[in-house]
This record gives sequence, structure tokens and C-alpha cells, in this order.
Amino acid sequence: MCGIVGIIGREPVAARLVEALKRLEYRGYDSAGIATLEGGHLERRRAEGKLRNLAARLEREPLLGHVGIGHTRWATHGKPTENNAHPHSSVRLSVVHNGIIENFRELREELTARGHVFVSETDTEVVAHLVTDEMNAGKSPRDAVAAALPRLRGAFALGFVFEGEPDLLIAARQGAPLAVGYGEGEMFLGSDALALAPFTDSITYLEDGDWAVLTRDGVEFFDALNAPVMRARIRTQASAFLIDKGNHRHFMAKEIHEQPEVVGRTLAHYLDMSNGCVRLPFELPFDAAKLTRLTIVACGTAYYAGLVAKYWFERFARIPVEIDVASEFRYREPPLDASGLTIVVSQSGETADTLACLRYAKEQGQKTLAVVNVPTSTIAREADTMALTLAGPEIGVASTKAFTCQLSVLACLAIAIGHARGTLSLEREGELVSQLIAVPGLMAEAIKREPRIEQIATVLSKAKDVLYLGRGASFPLAMEGALKLKEISYIHAEGYAAGELKHGPIALIDENMPVIVIAPHDAVYEKTVSNMQEVAARGGRIILIADKRAADEAAIDFEAIAPMPEMEPDFAPIVYAVPAQMLAYHTAVVMGKDVDQPRNLAKSVTVE
Ligand code: G6P
Repeated sequence: MCGIVGIIGREPVAARLVEALKRLEYRGYDSAGIATLEGGHLERRRAEGKLRNLAARLEREPLLGHVGIGHTRWATHGKPTENNAHPHSSVRLSVVHNGIIENFRELREELTARGHVFVSETDTEVVAHLVTDEMNAGKSPRDAVAAALPRLRGAFALGFVFEGEPDLLIAARQGAPLAVGYGEGEMFLGSDALALAPFTDSITYLEDGDWAVLTRDGVEFFDALNAPVMRARIRTQASAFLIDKGNHRHFMAKEIHEQPEVVGRTLAHYLDMSNGCVRLPFELPFDAAKLTRLTIVACGTAYYAGLVAKYWFERFARIPVEIDVASEFRYREPPLDASGLTIVVSQSGETADTLACLRYAKEQGQKTLAVVNVPTSTIAREADTMALTLAGPEIGVASTKAFTCQLSVLACLAIAIGHARGTLSLEREGELVSQLIAVPGLMAEAIKREPRIEQIATVLSKAKDVLYLGRGASFPLAMEGALKLKEISYIHAEGYAAGELKHGPIALIDENMPVIVIAPHDAVYEKTVSNMQEVAARGGRIILIADKRAADEAAIDFEAIAPMPEMEPDFAPIVYAVPAQMLAYHTAVVMGKDVDQPRNLAKSVTVE
């Protein structure tokens, strides 16, 4: 889940490499580096920490080459030091790598025995030496790469430049995304189209096992068996302007504020607003009436979207739902039969564990559907059906608008499958669709209450631990709220089912620990009130996220209330996500944390 880029141009490429890396920093920001070929020799600059450190270094010590590669790192093997930063080099080449080389230890032993000297702790360095070893045996750079690739196990995307080869860049892809971009007399390489958006919108995605030879005049593609192959050239829509922060201080703030618009756009894609029904933009790949089970798999925030949707699928479509985090699911060997459907949920469409689950489900003969935000991603391409979220590029590491768009799509799917199974009356379907249509407006209302959230964030910023409670579909949202808080403020937070409180977490409650309760006025609201009373009776400090009617009815002495607009409860998680996100955001801002690039995290996790 590092980001890699490469350019063969007609003028110095360093500044553009840095610009492209800036767009990939969401993939990792432990260190960064670039290498360019100057006067036939490779020169590199690397720096620990964020990209700005590398940029500052390049100002002092510029690189002038017309061909180069760059990397932004999320450390897997070896500490995030300058010495472990990419590119990694040998006497003949430099390489950048995203992914993990699983057999690097045995390769390293073999190459060390042959006299290669390793200077870093990374898995990547073996790639540099392995290709060098083949070149030492007399092979050309392209033959050396072709010979080395089959020896690498794991998931990787690679970019190479070579000593004395000013018109050559080689790329390879196995399980990690990689795109080639076309320019006028220049060519580009990047982990995704977004990285290349300022330079080109003409892209080819490498398929798994592919490798490519780039020169200034074009590109040749080869498959895993080294046979020349054609790969489609497409136009992307990742336009350059989409990734600026607008008037906001952080991408996360911008993305929170965009939600009424992008959720509206997503819903419009799935709803027939004038006739008050769901109209999917694709055929379901299965007979919904005969469907026996749904399996939902995802990671992180996307997993919590799936957990919320479980409540909807069970209630509206009366279908049993199994859900698991992808890293567990893939190794459980769960039995899946052909009458079931597996839904994977992923913003990036590249998360390694989620992708592995998709492939597992297909091997088991299941139909698959992917709820994804990136239509060209591997998961989108491999699933039988793609259900697109129209959130646009999400840059903040903490997912916000992708989550609410995922919820919107899953809600529409639950209604559509309920309709097809005859478990929803037309009247109920119409009611649900009207509720969904109201969601973007309600989100806008929730956003207007931001000043109140900012005040509450000042209180939260002093806490060491926070408990988040919810019942029913608000329970997964409580976990998502806690995750957001952990991710960007580093405050320890736990999300719990309100009814489980008395089975353990109640022991933690004292005057120091804020308890945030997500309590829309729904069928289980009274039960949640009882749980809040249990907290209040023990001197706990309750922060309530609810509408005025619910707050008044509870008649509890709350420490603070995050006021919500009144709404029908079915899709409350989509609207109540907004204050949970804003609470985490403003708490992190008050604490002076790096909101868009929290420590140790990365947005796209393409390693297991
Ligand atoms: C990382 C991100 C999360 C995201 C998760 C799953 O952990 O930081 O925000 O929810 O990966 O990513 P995906 O792209 O599959 O939704």
C-alpha cells in the first residue's frame, strides 16, 4: 500500500514525480524518495516522513534526469528510516515497489551467498539484486526482469529504471494495482489514475501477472508467460481539480461537507425518484427469490457499512446475512453454496484481504457483487456485478463520504432484493424510498449543527477513553464512530451494543469517561434510554446524539447533546454518521493532530 510513480519525459521529471506522489500520499507517508537518470547514472534522494521532507531535500539537492521513478511508503518490512526508503538500488538499477515479496528471506540468502550486499531491512531490495543478478549473467534489462519476476512470490507492483538506459522504464504488476499513462512523446506509470491525472487521462491498467516496457514513444505489454499482449487504453475521469481541498482546511472536512451532494448523486443512480421505487442500473446476477443467504465481507469502515446493511437485508428482504471482516473470512474456509450471494464492500476496490475473499467466493461457485467507489479497480473488475458508489475520490485517510455512499447503495440493494423476494409491500417500499430521498437534506441539516459539535469536541479532546453506544443499526455506527475517533485523535474509544453495557464495559464508567450514545428515535429507543440511565446512575457523563423529542423524552441530565433533525428511523445510520464524523474531526483538530494523514495508517491497504 505504498504509492509508486514513473515518468519518461523530455525535460527534468523530479517536480512532476513529486506532484504525482502528493496524490498518492493517501497510500502511505512514512518516507518518500525518487531516483532519476542523469548523464547515464542513477541519482536518488530519499527522506524520512512526509513528502514535504523529500520536496525540501530536492530544493537543496535537485535531481535533473528526464527519466525517473518515485515512491511514497507505508512501512511493512523495516522501520520507516531513510535507509529503508525507496527507491532501492544496485549498481545497475533502481526500483520502487508497492506490496510484499513473501519469499524475500530465501532470495536474500541465495543472493548474499552469490556476493550481493544488502544495505536495507526491506523485502524490496531483493528485487533490485535479483534483476541485477540476471543482468550480471549477460541479460538485457527487459530479459532480466522477465527472468526475475517468476521467482517473486507475493503481491507487488514494481517500477524500474536502469543505469545507462535513458529511454527505458519497466513496470510489473502482480496483485497490486498499476496504471500506464500516455503523453505526447512521454509516458507515465502510477499506482492509480489519480496520480497521473495532472499529466494524462489516457490510461491502461495492467492485468495481474502483466509487465510492461515503456519508452518515450509508447509501451509494450507482456503477460505472465512473457507473451506480448494487448491491453485496452481507456479515458479516465479522475480530473485534476477533484482533489483540491476547496475552502476547507482538511480533505476530511471537505469530504464530510460533500456528503449531501454525493449521497444524493449516489441515490439518484439507484432510485427512480418520480415513481418512488428502486431502479438498479444493472441486472442482479441471481434469482433473488431463490437466494438462500447473503455473505458480506469487507475491512475497516466498509465492514461497518456492511454490518449496518445486515439489519436492512434481514428486515426488508428477510434473508439470512453472514458478515465478517475479510482478513478472518478468507482463512476460515467458510462453506458457501451456489444459492448464496457474496457482497464485498470496498472504497478503493484494491484492499488485499477483500479481494482474496471475492476470489474465494467465486471459486466456491457463488455469484458476487462488489460495492465499490473506484470503477476501474481490481475488485470492481473481478466481481460479477459492480454496484458503484458515486462518492468521487476520497483522499482523507479516515473514510467519511465513501461510508455514507456505501450505506446508500446497500440500502437500495436491500429494498430491491426485498421487492424481488416479495417481502416488501409496494406501500412499504414507497415509504422506504421516500425516506431515502429525504436523506441528503437531513444530512445537510445535521452538518449545519457543526458549531455545537465543535463545542462537544473540546470536551472530548480532554478524555483518555471514550465509550460509544448504540442499539440496532446504531450499534455498528457506534463502532464506526469509535473507529473514527481512534484513527485521527488517537483517543482510545470502544463501540459497544448498548445492551451489552452491563456485561462488562459498565465497570469502566466513572466521571472521567465520556459515553457517547447514538439514539435515533426508533423501535429500540426506550431500551437505549434504560441503558443511559444505568450510565447516569453511576455518575457517567453522557453525550447524546439524538433529536429534540428523543432528548426530552429521556429526561436525563446529559453532559451534552448533539442535536439531530427529526427523521423516520430506518435510514438513521446514514444521517447519524455525520455527527460521529464531525466529532472525531473536531476533536483531532482541537488536539492539533494530522487529520488527513494520521500516524501509521494508510488509505488503501493492498497488503494482507
Ligand atoms: C483502510 C482505510 C479505511 C478503510 C479500509 C478498507 O483501513 O484506512 O478507511 O475503511 O482500509 O478500505 P476499502 O478501500 O476496502 O474500503
